[in-house]
Amino acid sequence: MKMTRIEKRFVNRKKKAERNIKKIQTAFQQIEIEKINTVLELGCGIGFVSAYLADSYNFNVYGTDFDAEQIQIARKLQPEGERLHFQVEDAAELSFEDSSIDLVISQNVFHHVPDWEDAILEIARVLRSGGFFIWLDLAFPEIVKRIFQSFVKNYGLYTINDIMTAFEVSGFKELSYERLAHGPLSQHHFVLQLK
Ligand SMILES: C[S@@+](CC[C@H](N)C(=O)[O-])C[C@H]1O[C@@H](n2cnc3c(N)ncnc32)[C@H](O)[C@@H]1O
Repeated sequence: MKMTRIEKRFVNRKKKAERNIKKIQTAFQQIEIEKINTVLELGCGIGFVSAYLADSYNFNVYGTDFDAEQIQIARKLQPEGERLHFQVEDAAELSFEDSSIDLVISQNVFHHVPDWEDAILEIARVLRSGGFFIWLDLAFPEIVKRIFQSFVKNYGLYTINDIMTAFEVSGFKELSYERLAHGPLSQHHFVLQLK
């Protein structure tokens, strides 16, 4: 789902990207980065993280976002090159080939995706066997999901148990899990590997 202008002003900040990069650096301690060549970032926003991964690790990076305006800004701020590509994609319906990606990154995206379960299936489809998935996002308490699910159709409404079950049934094994923030809008960080 496209964000409002106010949401974009809050989200499209370098400080936020720097926090995201720190989380990725932590995740990299748990995965075999020497086996990674092609990276897909979902909901890349204005592309800071994708550009960092292409520059610092020499990965072949696809920064993707549902919102064409975000991709346009990303291209202006970080010129595309041999190893950095930006394109419009819906996380729930990816155009990438089966088993073509070594690492998928999704930070703060799933709560914007109403069909988030389809997104997990798509990620499992495009990842090669043994590929990695870094997921960082909110999860909602069961009561919030129950109250809002009949009329909120534009957001992903899931509990932490919903997400963990979906990861498991889609063939992911958990390499690490950290709960980053507590309360009604708890935030969670998973590093997963496709079996
Ligand atoms: C809260 S921002 C997060 C941006 C960045 N990953 C970060 O953590 O700062 C959510 C991003 O997801 C994008 N988005 C929303 N729905 C999407 C979908 N179905 N597929 C891909 N991206 C989507 C939005 O356009 C937005 O850029």
